[in-house]
Amino acid sequence: MYLYKFLLGLLLTCITVTVSANSVRNVELLASSCAACHGTNGHSIGGTPVLAGLDKLHFIEQMRQFTENERPSTVMYHHANGYTVEEIKLMAEFFSKQER
Ligand code: HEC
Repeated sequence: MYLYKFLLGLLLTCITVTVSANSVRNVELLASSCAACHGTNGHSIGGTPVLAGLDKLHFIEQMRQFTENERPSTVMYHHANGYTVEEIKLMAEFFSKQER
């Protein structure tokens, strides 16, 4: 009985680790599609806004405004609309952690 519980616990730990590893890989994949304009990991060099080190809430709010067309944009309306709220949160977290 104890062995059974132990094995079950071990199994659950493995699943949790796998899931969080996947979300890290996914957010890097998501962020890489912004790199063409915003630079690698948000280190923009071409005049687009720098995303690295951007405040999480600011990031989420800008993305929301782009999708709702509250903030006029050239291209971000299209880009912001391609993501779920969950993905935007993941990216906000990711970019806020990058050093400026
Ligand atoms: C085709 C080029 C291009 C791509 C790709 C792109 N952006 Fe942008 N981004 C811009 C431009 C240009 C602006 C300035 C606003 C505008 O004109 O749309 C901007 C502005 C922003 C801002 C506002 C920053 C601030 O401080 O106000 C955020 C946040 C942002 N982009 C996030 C992203 C994310 C996240 C992705 C990837 C999912 C992405 N962008 C992909 C060109 C791009």
